[in-house]
Amino acid sequence: MTNVSFITIKDLTKTYEDAGKKIIVFDRLNLNLDKNSIISLVGPSGSGKSSLLHILAMLDTFDGGSYFFDSKNISSFSLSEKNLNRATKISIVYQFNNLISDLNALENVALPLLINKEEKSFALQQAEAMMIKVGLEARIKHFPNQLSGGEQQRVAIARAIITEPELILADEPTGNLDKNNSLEIFNLLKSLKSKNRLILFATHNRELSSMTDIQLEISNSSVKRIE
Ligand SMILES: Nc1ncnc2c1ncn2[C@@H]1O[C@H](COP(=O)(O)OP(=O)(O)OP(=O)(O)O)[C@@H](O)[C@H]1O
Ligand SMILES: [Mg+2]
Repeated sequence: MTNVSFITIKDLTKTYEDAGKKIIVFDRLNLNLDKNSIISLVGPSGSGKSSLLHILAMLDTFDGGSYFFDSKNISSFSLSEKNLNRATKISIVYQFNNLISDLNALENVALPLLINKEEKSFALQQAEAMMIKVGLEARIKHFPNQLSGGEQQRVAIARAIITEPELILADEPTGNLDKNNSLEIFNLLKSLKSKNRLILFATHNRELSSMTDIQLEISNSSVKRIE
């Protein structure tokens, strides 16, 4: 059988051992996610939103079941194949501390291309285009501590899109922002939706989550679609 979805999770089980106690985060989770959509992920604190994003980013392992990324079973990937996929196809935006404090905004944004061994002049030129795209051309030389929380998240998003990723995983990217900035960052993320991209957005904000294409809720170790 071929897996037509961009992301297919089959019977995935994830547990943690904590002080001798077993925590079941996911119990035979099944999920099919397609490109050209922005999908919100809600659920109470501790329900497993970050855990799921880390598994999707191939940053964390799981105990059972399978994960097909772009129709490929990731259990067949070597560590370097996982790293290559993450470097070229997946970007993550966290709630805060996304940026490297002793690099300026432009250098932060250019970093993924430099890590991927692109020419420095090309990387900086692309980074400038991304800063313009997120409306921060006037903040290029600023360091993270000279930027507001909302501006830092814009830079984090500029950095996330410089590699033109197919999967953007945003883990409460607006969690640290006020109402207006949250909406702006959400709208920026939403504008990045494209036919070759899936955006997954974990949030506690029900208002924003209701503005996505699909709302997923984690409860009782499984994920349900909210209609
Ligand atoms: N490294 C770890 N070791 C042990 N338990 C862990 C570990 N990481 C997460 N957990 C547990 O797994 C469960 C899911 O955690 P997770 O961080 O994915 O939740 P979340 O939905 O992102 O919560 P929040 O909304 O607070 O960010 C929690 O019970 C948490 O305590
Ligand atoms: Mg979390």
